Amino acid sequence: MKTCPACQDRGVVIKNNVAVPCLCNRQRALINRFKEAGLPEGLRDHTFDKFNFKYYSRVRVDPERKITYYESARRTFQAARDFVQNFKNDQHIDGLLITGPVGSGKTFLAACMANALLEAEVLLLFVIVPDLLDRLRSTYDQHRQSADYSEKDLMDAAREVPLLFLDDLGAHNYTEWTKNKLYSILNYRVNHRLPVIITTNISLEDLGEYLGERTTSRICQMCWPCRLPVEVDIRMVQRREKLREG
Ligand SMILES: Nc1ncnc2c1ncn2[C@@H]1O[C@H](COP(=O)(O)OP(=O)(O)OP(=O)(O)O)[C@@H](O)[C@H]1O
Ligand SMILES: [Mg+2]
Ligand SMILES: [Zn+2]
Repeated sequence: MKTCPACQDRGVVIKNNVAVPCLCNRQRALINRFKEAGLPEGLRDHTFDKFNFKYYSRVRVDPERKITYYESARRTFQAARDFVQNFKNDQHIDGLLITGPVGSGKTFLAACMANALLEAEVLLLFVIVPDLLDRLRSTYDQHRQSADYSEKDLMDAAREVPLLFLDDLGAHNYTEWTKNKLYSILNYRVNHRLPVIITTNISLEDLGEYLGERTTSRICQMCWPCRLPVEVDIRMVQRREKLREG
């Protein structure tokens, strides 16, 4: 694990001449409950060097930003790499909000970041939002208590972990209750200056409609918006490539 800046891994800090347990003990204990930081197996071998730029058009121009899809992807990729580099020195930097259509490489890029940081033994949690919502609902429903951890553990970890990934914060059916859960996570993180990396296929303008203005406003405060635009879902393109290869 990365050396804790507060206690240098001694596990205690001195406050008013008294040794008290450092917050990192609790964070480590919480995160250790989530296998492989929550990163699903299929995403564990994604690395920056495998990110292919051929899927991003060099002629198509994003009408809003007036740059090509390729240029947009290049900037987003750079922002992801810079984040990884900078987070190692300062854990209180701005996160990223990666937007783009279905199959544009958002999850791929987030997984590249998570893998690079796990390599550097950073404490992080990779949360797939629809799964989170399902788990929260199932622990809410008393009869289906999850065997591994309680809703409270999951919520605490998502709030307190030094770095949180929220993958696919998409157009799901948010209830008032799930919206409040997300608000509570993001509000805590904004107040403690803990970054979050978000992927979504909802545009920044429409986010408020799904998550509410208070949550969206906090996301804007804590994340740099970046885009990954594609003409065609990369999943389709790769399927065609496979067919051609025979
Ligand atoms: N830049 C890239 N280079 C190589 N493969 C890529 C790239 N981007 C995406 N892929 C592959 O394309 C597929 C779709 O990518 P990904 O899951 O990241 O899309 P997404 O933007 O998260 O889509 P969704 O909005 O549906 O969640 C995956 O199989 C991924 O491995
Ligand atoms: Mg995705
Ligand atoms: Zn510590």
